[in-house]
Amino acid sequence: MSQEMDVRVQQQRTLPCSIAVRAEIARMTAYAPGESLQAFSIRTGVPLKRIIKLNANESPYGPIPAALHAIRSHDWYNQYPDTRASLLKEAVSRYTCLDTDQIVLGHGSMEVINLLWHLFLSSGDALVCCPPTFSLYATITNLCGAQIRNVERTGNYEIDVKAIGAALTPETKFIVLCSPNNPTGNPIPESALLELLETGRLVILDEAYVEFSSRPTGYAALVARYDNLIILRTLSKWAGLAGLRVGYGLFPRWIVPYMQRAQQPFEVNVAGSLAAIATLTHLSEAQERVQRIVEERERLFHLLAGQPYLHPFPSEGNFILARLGDTRVRIEQVQHVMESYGILLRYFPRLDRMHDYIRVTVGLPEHTQRFADALALVRETVQV
Ligand SMILES: Cc1ncc(COP(=O)(O)O)c(C=O)c1O
Repeated sequence: MSQEMDVRVQQQRTLPCSIAVRAEIARMTAYAPGESLQAFSIRTGVPLKRIIKLNANESPYGPIPAALHAIRSHDWYNQYPDTRASLLKEAVSRYTCLDTDQIVLGHGSMEVINLLWHLFLSSGDALVCCPPTFSLYATITNLCGAQIRNVERTGNYEIDVKAIGAALTPETKFIVLCSPNNPTGNPIPESALLELLETGRLVILDEAYVEFSSRPTGYAALVARYDNLIILRTLSKWAGLAGLRVGYGLFPRWIVPYMQRAQQPFEVNVAGSLAAIATLTHLSEAQERVQRIVEERERLFHLLAGQPYLHPFPSEGNFILARLGDTRVRIEQVQHVMESYGILLRYFPRLDRMHDYIRVTVGLPEHTQRFADALALVRETVQV
């Protein structure tokens, strides 16, 4: 940098500035996703290859070979994606049995969530949410300057339909639910969903983990019947495409044109789109991996339940939530031992009443084995 330029940059930095960001953004805390492989490696010194990443509900199997092949054999990455994303929408339509004009794609379902919230919420509006649940809902509500009415779940983490009904006010723009719920793992019963749909309020149902559940087609069929139901899905979890960012929403037709107005051009990037189409075309291969994860989930549950200091909750997702049920064991000790084994779990230091919980993503059988070794060391260290 020339001396003259250097002086100008310094002057810019010291000039008083009266422009401020919006108050709600100044107040809010950013959403904290699970720590990445690279960040964990830098923080702990554990080499990348030794890390077992069980903190973000990613698939340990990754994309199916057909998806990788589709990405590698594409020749036109210099060109923008198909503006209508027709092939991917047709593939999602075959998969969900909903028409293409009821599908909105996104750069991960997080983008669809962000758009939807901005479509309906401004300052003074409210939504109803049932914690503990996916914390991004609250982050984006804050970003919109809207209010969150939290309706706590019952003892078994079931949603409380009556309390939700009582929390609705004229300002409530929608109810957001997650099924199976992250992080508790339990699905929402159909009767509860129908009761909430009958209130006439908009219900947004996040089915990011539905493929791992006992009802893998979820509640998509209800979107054709209810004008107030939106379902959110992703290929990040069951399809192993988290890094490629492909999500979608299933919408009543009246909302889709508004989403299109609010969205940037090009709903999904080319590589993500190719991988998603290939996965949906070779569905049985991807579903076979889901089945392996579901089987491994049972093994992981028994392992957790066998620890005298842990209380795991039954899960229909690709993760299991467990509470530390013994005051002699501190979460910091668990984290310390796990990290010494190169194992990354999800902890909840910022969530109310979740400080002594861990969430473990279901990995490969050898990941469960190493996790078992680490749990045994925790037991030995604290002698419970
Ligand atoms: C409940 C839930 N919804 C949505 C997402 C976001 O998924 P995507 O990778 O499609 O943005 C996640 C990711 O962890 C999630 O847990």
